[in-house]
Amino acid sequence: MADLAVRLGGIPLRNPLLLASGIWGESGDSLAGAWAAGAGGVITKSIGSESRRGYPNPTVETYDRWGLLNAMGLPNPGIEEYPREIAAARAQGATVIGSVFGSDAGEFARLARRIATTGVVAVELNLSCPHAEGYGTEVGSDPADVERIVRAVTSEVTLPVIAKITPNTSDPAGLAAAAERGGAAAVSAINTLRGLAIDIRLRRPVLAHGLGGLSGAAIKPVGLACVWQIFERVKVPVIGVGGISSAEDVLEYVMAGARAVEIGTAVTFDGIGVFGRIARDLSGRLDELGFARLEDAVGTAHPARGRPAGAPAGNGPTEA
Ligand SMILES: Cc1cc2nc3c(=O)[nH]c(=O)nc-3n(C[C@H](O)[C@H](O)[C@H](O)COP(=O)(O)O)c2cc1C
Repeated sequence: MADLAVRLGGIPLRNPLLLASGIWGESGDSLAGAWAAGAGGVITKSIGSESRRGYPNPTVETYDRWGLLNAMGLPNPGIEEYPREIAAARAQGATVIGSVFGSDAGEFARLARRIATTGVVAVELNLSCPHAEGYGTEVGSDPADVERIVRAVTSEVTLPVIAKITPNTSDPAGLAAAAERGGAAAVSAINTLRGLAIDIRLRRPVLAHGLGGLSGAAIKPVGLACVWQIFERVKVPVIGVGGISSAEDVLEYVMAGARAVEIGTAVTFDGIGVFGRIARDLSGRLDELGFARLEDAVGTAHPARGRPAGAPAGNGPTEA
């Protein structure tokens, strides 16, 4: 059976399948449940300085099986309350990555310093939520801001720092390069795509907040294109996120350049069993494709990095 273990910016993972931030990660027990179901690691929901209730309902609109539109508004209990959930997850053996969101470099650094004391193996910076005023995309769209925030965090904590990049920009690879300059150990891409749904009978947006973020199968091609471009631009490992619900999806991301992936919306549609199912299928698919280790498949769809002899040339994504 192919070896699924990977190292990610110094972090050893038993497999590359991470629970994405914000889905199923409210409590220590739910994080531990994802771990028990076979995830290689679990990422907490994004935690801020103070507790936030988030936006009023409705906060989620579901599109059959191809997508979710959400505007939760980053609900969380705040950095002083949440560590007990991390402790509960770790007590059940989980490898936990802490996600934080802030409004500027100083706030990110304070949050990262605090969460680094909880036993997490890495810190992911939410520089990319598309619907929270003053946070996420609003502080993560300018490369200079991204570099400043990441540098402030990496000079404050010794743990690996993962910068989560927004797709709501013309140059996601430029943001990833800025994160790398700031000292990020890895970058993850993508967060949700800004989106909107209208209730034509009520003549108003479906979500109470109006604008939301689209996730799920619909965004997979966008996530793949971002990972592809980022892989060509940076040296640090890339974590692929967006619309993954099968081993084939994982392999697409891996061949585009991802060393690990995050899975979110598929948990909502298929349940937490997705992790075990995908891990099993992934080993089988790697065997069929002749890869002894998942790491050997990273980036192999890029022309210079191992497309099999005789495979048709020029079928990779191109830049217009
Ligand atoms: C309901 C919901 C809540 C989310 N909350 C967060 C969050 O707190 N922090 C974050 O970085 N990303 C958050 N995300 C984005 C996901 O982590 C992920 O980047 C995105 O959904 C794309 O992956 P997917 O298609 O597998 O869901 C959230 C997504 C959803 C659907």
